[in-house]
Amino acid sequence: MLSSINVQRKGRVAGAGRCEMRRWREFSQSRCHWAGASGDTGIMAAPLYPNLEVFLSRQQIAERVAELGAQISRDLNGEKLVMVGVLKGAAPFLADLARCVTADATFDFVATSSYGNGMRASGVVRLIKDLDEPIEGKNVLVVEDILDTGLTLAYLRKVFLQQRPKTLRIATLLDKPSRRIEKIEADYVGFSIPNLFVIGYGMDYAERYRNLPDICLMTADHPE
Ligand code: IMP
Ligand code: MG
Repeated sequence: MLSSINVQRKGRVAGAGRCEMRRWREFSQSRCHWAGASGDTGIMAAPLYPNLEVFLSRQQIAERVAELGAQISRDLNGEKLVMVGVLKGAAPFLADLARCVTADATFDFVATSSYGNGMRASGVVRLIKDLDEPIEGKNVLVVEDILDTGLTLAYLRKVFLQQRPKTLRIATLLDKPSRRIEKIEADYVGFSIPNLFVIGYGMDYAERYRNLPDICLMTADHPE
C-alpha cells in the first residue's frame, strides 16, 4: 500500500533518499499503470510525454480526493462552506474535491506568486489576486495543490484570519513536510510525499504540464 512506501496520507516522511526513490520507481512500475485510449497500459502520463514517470495515478488521486471530500463534509456538520482555491495549481483539485463535498458550497479564488520560472522559490509571497467576496463569519476551506515550504499558506492564513472567518481550514493534495520553513500544517492532506518535484494535475514546471491527468516526477533530464 501507499503508506508502506512513505507516501503517507497524513504524517511525516523523511526526505527522498536513493532507496526511497528506488522503491517509488518499483511502485510506479508495478502499480501506477494507466489504460490508454487504445486500451493498452503503460507508465506514461500521457502520449505527449512518453518519458514521464507517473508518481500518483489519476485513479489514486480520485480515490483519495473522494475520501477527503467525505471527511470535509462530515466535519462541516451541515454548515455552508466557501472553498478558496489558490490559482493556478489548485484548480483541478478544487474542481474534483468540490464534487465530493456534500455541502452548500461556493467558490472563490486567490492567486499568489512566490515561485520564479522553474523549481526555485523566490521566498517572497505576494497576493496578485484577492478574494472576490468577504469571508467574515464564514467557514473557509483553503484549497492548495501542494504545501511545500509553507510560505504561501502561512501568508494566506494570516491575510484571511484578519477577516475573521468562522472557521479557517486548509486542504492540500500534496504535502512535503521535509521542506517546511514556516510552521504550518494542513487540516486535510491527500498524500504526504518526499522532497521531489512533481508536475501534473494542476502542478507546473515553468507553466507547463498542468493538464497532465496524473501526477508525474519532474526529473533533471526533463523537460526536453
Ligand atoms: P510553498 O509556499 O513553498 O509552500 O509553495 C507552495 C507552492 O509552490 C505550491 O502551491 C506550488 O505552486 C509550488 N510548488 C511547490 N512544490 C512544487 C512541486 O513539486 N511541483 C510544482 N509546484 C510546486
Ligand atoms: Mg500552488
